[in-house]
Parts: sequence; C-alpha cells; structure tokens
Amino acid sequence: EVTTPERVFEETIERDQRIEPRDWMPEGYRKTLVRQVAQHAHSEIIGMQPEGAWIARAPSLRRKAILLAKVQDEAGHGLYLYSAAETLGADRADLTAKLISGRQKYSSIFNYPTLNFADIGVIGWLVDGAAICNQVPLCRSSYGPYARAMVRICKEESFHQRQGYELLLTMMRGTEAQRDMVRDAVDRWWWPSLMMFGPPDGDSPNTRQSMAWKVKRHTNDELRQKFVDMTVPQADALGVSLPDPELRWNADRGAHDFGEPDWAELKRVISGDGACNAERVERRRTAHEQGEWVREAAAAHAAKRAARQEA
Ligand code: 3HC
Repeated sequence: EVTTPERVFEETIERDQRIEPRDWMPEGYRKTLVRQVAQHAHSEIIGMQPEGAWIARAPSLRRKAILLAKVQDEAGHGLYLYSAAETLGADRADLTAKLISGRQKYSSIFNYPTLNFADIGVIGWLVDGAAICNQVPLCRSSYGPYARAMVRICKEESFHQRQGYELLLTMMRGTEAQRDMVRDAVDRWWWPSLMMFGPPDGDSPNTRQSMAWKVKRHTNDELRQKFVDMTVPQADALGVSLPDPELRWNADRGAHDFGEPDWAELKRVISGDGACNAERVERRRTAHEQGEWVREAAAAHAAKRAARQEA
C-alpha cells in the first residue's frame, strides 16, 4: 500500500525509532524541537553565571578546580545543544539574538542569586539532580541528534551532582555556622528546583503534543514527583530538612506527597521578573558583543584556510 511521508514519520515514532535530520517531519515537530533544544542550550550557557561568580572565591584549589571543570562542561553542553538545534535548520547567531532580546527562554532556576559557597553545593545536588531527572528520559527523545546529545551530557551531569552533594556533606561535618549555611541554601533553592520541571501538567500547553511525538517521555508532574522521591532520602542522609511542611511518605501511593510550588512566582520569573533576570541577560549580551572580534577573526582565518586549500 502507498506510504506517505506522514505515515512513515508516524510509524517511526510508534516504533520508538529515531527521526534524523534528513527525514521528513511535520513543521510543528521541527518548531517544537527548535524551541526546546534552543532553550535547553540557553539554560546551559546562562547557567554558567551563578556558579562562575564563585570560581575566583572558591575556598580551596580543589574546589576551584572542580567548579572550573563543571562550568566548562556546561559551556560544552550549550554548544553541543546549539549544534543539535542547527540540524533542524536553526541558526546559532539567530538563537543567541532571540535569547538576548527575550524572545526565547532559559531555565527559571538561573535567575536566583548565589549568596555563598553552600549555594554551589546545593546547585550541584538539587539543580543538577533535577536536570538529571529531566535529561535521562530525553536520551530516548524521538529526535536523534537531541537524544544523542543527552546521552553524552548525562554522563557529565552525574559528576556535577556528586561533587555538589560531597561539598555539602563536608560542610555538614564542619562548624555549626557551616551547617547553618547549608540549611539556608537548601531553604532558598528547594522550591525553585521543583519549578525547573515546568508548570503543572494542566497548565502546560506543550506537554500533550510533546508526549505524542515522544519529544518528551514523561510529563512535568511525573518528573517532579520522581525528583522529590529521589531527593528526600538524600536530604535525610545529609541531615537537612526540606522546607515543605506537607512533605510526607504516602504508602498508598508509594510516593511522597508534597506542597504546591508558587506557580505565580514561576510565571513571574519566566516572564523576566525574577531576582537576576536583567543581570543574567545583560551579562550574556555584553559577552556576545565583546566576543564579536573573536568570531570575526575565526571566520577570517577559516576563509583564508579555505582559500589556501582551493589554490
Ligand atoms: N524555566 C523557564 N521556562 C519554562 C520553565 C522553566 N522552569 N518551565 C516551563 N517553561 C516555559 C516553556 O518553555 C514554555 O514556554 P515556550 O512555549 O515559550 O517554550 C512554557 O513555559 C510552558 O511550559 P510547558 O510545560 O508547556 O513547556 P515544555 O513542554 O517545553 O516543558 C521543560 C518545559 C520541562 C523545561 C521542557 O522544555 C524540557 O524538558 N526542556 C529540556 C530540559 C531543559 O531545558 N532543562 C533546563 C534545566 S537547566 C539544565 O539542564 C542545565 C543543567 O546544567 C543544570
């Protein structure tokens, strides 16, 4: 029987096989992937700022080396994801322009300030822990280049989470003042970490279609629940309590019940009205402008090399 490109696309998705750049795909599939992959890349690049602020102030050479490696990894994750977006016909310079002008988003979590070095540990433990919960299923996303980027990125994220948790364990074994710093940082980052998974499923315009196309393999609420269930025992082992009076194990559900995040806060932060939004975007814009000469030099060098090869 005659198979149409639509039918081939649908069968590929149904069979859990991969859509590759040269395959036919519905325009909506391409658009939602450029949207998600570009914003994922933007999140990695902007995410370098909160941690970068502490590289020069790390308490030891070991902590400085670890933080340098982590921030460098995030830069690489961003560039890797921009390359995945380019396989969909997106242009990297255009994506950067969209980020700087606020026409594309990046993860809300990076609009919160990092007040002291305990924040670096909590970001590794909670933020990278949430990112792992979100990114492991994306290794099975239906778009080939995105799924393959996730496989490589997930390998490095587990180091990011472990170093953060180990940093906090060290501080919890330190002075009372250090334990207070950890408790304060956990209180400040817990709810924003839950918001990383997006709005509740009933308020998520993209989830249904993204699940149908297997771009996403779980809904926002499913991944948030998984993160809470994974993190509670880790908080117990660390000796910190999580700032949610409704958090408790529900044996009937086989999962933890927990309170409602402040969705109005998430909406405010996503719309640019968070504590650090203006500073993060301004910093990205300045870096882009000051890097203009590097891009020009690299392009001129590449053109000369190409001309020499042709000669
Ligand atoms: N921050 C910013 N924007 C958010 C958001 C958040 N926490 N949660 C949702 N949004 C935006 C969505 O992008 C969408 O806007 P858009 O249509 O203009 O893109 C709108 O709010 C509605 O949300 P939906 O749930 O309908 O959108 P999605 O189906 O795309 O779900 C998502 C949002 C869960 C973030 C999904 O896009 C996703 O899984 N993205 C890939 C993972 C990712 O981007 N993670 C960023 C975490 S940071 C990171 O990984 C770096 C690591 O090193 C810590």
